Amino acid sequence: MYTVPKLEDYSPEALDRAVADLFSALDAESRDLHSESDWKTFRDRWLARKNGVLTQINDTWLKAAPGAAKREVGRRVNELKARAEAAIEQVLGKLIASAVGAKIDSDRLDITLPGIQRPIGVKHPVLRVMDEIVAVFKAMGYSVGEGPEVETDYYNFESLNFPPNHPARDTQDTLFIAGQESKAARDRLLLRTHTSPVQIRTMEQQPPPVRIVIPGKVHRNDPLDATHSPVFHQVEGLAVDTNITFCDLKGTLDHAMKALFGSSVKTRFYPSFFPFTEPSADMQVSCIFCGGKGCRKCKFSGWIELLGCGMVDPNVFDFVKHNGYDSSKISGFAFGMGVERIAILKYEVEEIQLFYEGDVRFLEQFA
Ligand code: DAH
Repeated sequence: MYTVPKLEDYSPEALDRAVADLFSALDAESRDLHSESDWKTFRDRWLARKNGVLTQINDTWLKAAPGAAKREVGRRVNELKARAEAAIEQVLGKLIASAVGAKIDSDRLDITLPGIQRPIGVKHPVLRVMDEIVAVFKAMGYSVGEGPEVETDYYNFESLNFPPNHPARDTQDTLFIAGQESKAARDRLLLRTHTSPVQIRTMEQQPPPVRIVIPGKVHRNDPLDATHSPVFHQVEGLAVDTNITFCDLKGTLDHAMKALFGSSVKTRFYPSFFPFTEPSADMQVSCIFCGGKGCRKCKFSGWIELLGCGMVDPNVFDFVKHNGYDSSKISGFAFGMGVERIAILKYEVEEIQLFYEGDVRFLEQFA
């Protein structure tokens, strides 16, 4: 441990040496400190007014200096004190920094641990196809509409030209909300069987021209099988304007099918019946599996039935006549397609139930 030497020689060289010795001692002692209390002891040893090393220097060097050297020794002692004080403060700073560093070290993230993988979900295949269908029509200038899933008898049936007790209602049996016996038949609530009621809702809201597609969920009293589900999705379409013809219907749907299934797909229209269209048709596409040659999937016919469509029945326009839908001046076409049915074809899914079970092994195939 450093003790203050007596100075025999007060020459500048001897003073330099003495100061250098003192600082190397201070440096050596400062390296041995491990805590703040170590540092305090160290500080007191050097700086204490009573008998600290610097005080001793005052006494041993300065007071003992011969008169001629006093001035120079005094200057050096002051300078040395300032340096020593600064050095001692610095030691504390380093000590604190390394203590904080050690704490941070012990809390540090171990980047060699395997990470936690959070799989990112993907859009459900039914929604994906629904969006794809909607996008095809959006690109042709259609806007997108929606309507309620719990619908009145009026919108779901009556205004679509299914009068009460009409046999066409039997093909679209559904759940009615209980306890509505006191209401008029047309106001009774049911789970909508198709997205077609939004046709009327749209025409009530806006005068012609109309070009709209309506994606949504629908309900039917259909027994479950590989291709039927009591809850499924549809995309409805409606175009109303002056001079809309069956050609427009065919051209529009043919283009949409080519956009969805590829440009080699063909369409054909078969006579059908829907109360709200006249004439009505079922549209078929050439089998996307065999290209029309005939295979098990198309029951060897080469064609697959995909949607219902037709020219809007004047009786339907009559329900919205007040809003500019005069069937002697305007005409329109409409169509409705099942989204799952298209998804089944596009992705070659064997069972419609797979879409609803939420089995990740099935769903992740669409990632
Ligand atoms: N709503 C019909 C159904 O669910 C499908 C349909 C057929 C919609 C012809 C239409 C249409 O808009 O014109 O079976």
